[in-house]
Amino acid sequence: MSYEQARARWQASNPPRHYLSITDLTRESAETVLALAHAMKRATQGGHELFRFARPTAVALIFEKPSLRTRVTLEVGLYQMGAYGVYLTQSDIQMGAREAVMDIARNLGRWVQGIIARVFLHTALEELARFSDVPVINALSDREHPCQALADLMTIQERFGTAPRTLAWVGDGNNVCHSFTLLAAMLGHTVRIATPEGYAPRPEILQQAQAFAAESGGAVVVIDDPREAIADADGVYTDVWVSMGFETEREARMRKFLPYQVNESLLSLAKPDAIVLHCLPARRGEEITDAVLDGAQSAVWDQAENRLHTQKALLALMLG
Ligand code: CP
Ligand code: NVA
Repeated sequence: MSYEQARARWQASNPPRHYLSITDLTRESAETVLALAHAMKRATQGGHELFRFARPTAVALIFEKPSLRTRVTLEVGLYQMGAYGVYLTQSDIQMGAREAVMDIARNLGRWVQGIIARVFLHTALEELARFSDVPVINALSDREHPCQALADLMTIQERFGTAPRTLAWVGDGNNVCHSFTLLAAMLGHTVRIATPEGYAPRPEILQQAQAFAAESGGAVVVIDDPREAIADADGVYTDVWVSMGFETEREARMRKFLPYQVNESLLSLAKPDAIVLHCLPARRGEEITDAVLDGAQSAVWDQAENRLHTQKALLALMLG
């Protein structure tokens, strides 16, 4: 697929102006980003780029929380496509304290062609989008991590193609779970979610994911027992038990999440060729063991690499 072909498909797909949630994408938009990401990955690995920005392009990268993967893949991806990323931490701009969110949005729109933000509160992203003249992209909030989900589904496609699969989520039903479940359901997969009591995905997210599944022929089910969720699954996904911002809950969470650890014994219940996914960073020995993370079924390093290719595809389509 060439960039021009992807661009034509994207424009016909009712594409979003902002990307704050998987729900901003139509199925056709999501499939177009993924198809372009595969093509861009092949090109980059072959030593050339499928797309470069024709005009000077700068993007603000606002990070209220730490990041390795998201920051590096955005900065490197922009660089590879001839654009520039301006990294701004909370101590630089103090969003909402030194300056109102709406004023930051209005200022940035005069200088840059896009705003990508990692925030504590999803409502801050919504406010940025409301007052921004340029596209706003979610780089993780308390509600979603939609850039991560694109890389997750790309990795599943690389291993299994596009046919529907059964995917188990085991652990915290938080931001990463939300975006993964929404996108997997939109693309026709069955998602089985096992979380401790009190840590299930938000009801409105589940409802939306079930609506996507009804349309795509997939399914979304919540199950108490992680063994039941994993039984014969093609993919097993977990995330940290203590997300950024929840550090004070650490002790209580450790106790409740222990039965949800993805270890060799739990993984043995999945299909023999099942893959293991983790958005990373991982807390080795907590939600996932060394043996699983480093084992033959782990797809996590490909998944991390695919953050680069999926975000490049998204940026080329949204800002190109
Ligand atoms: N998976 C992910 O978003 O990683 P970082 O927090 O390091 O960006
Ligand atoms: N759920 C984790 C994901 C980190 C990429 C967090 O919010 O900290």
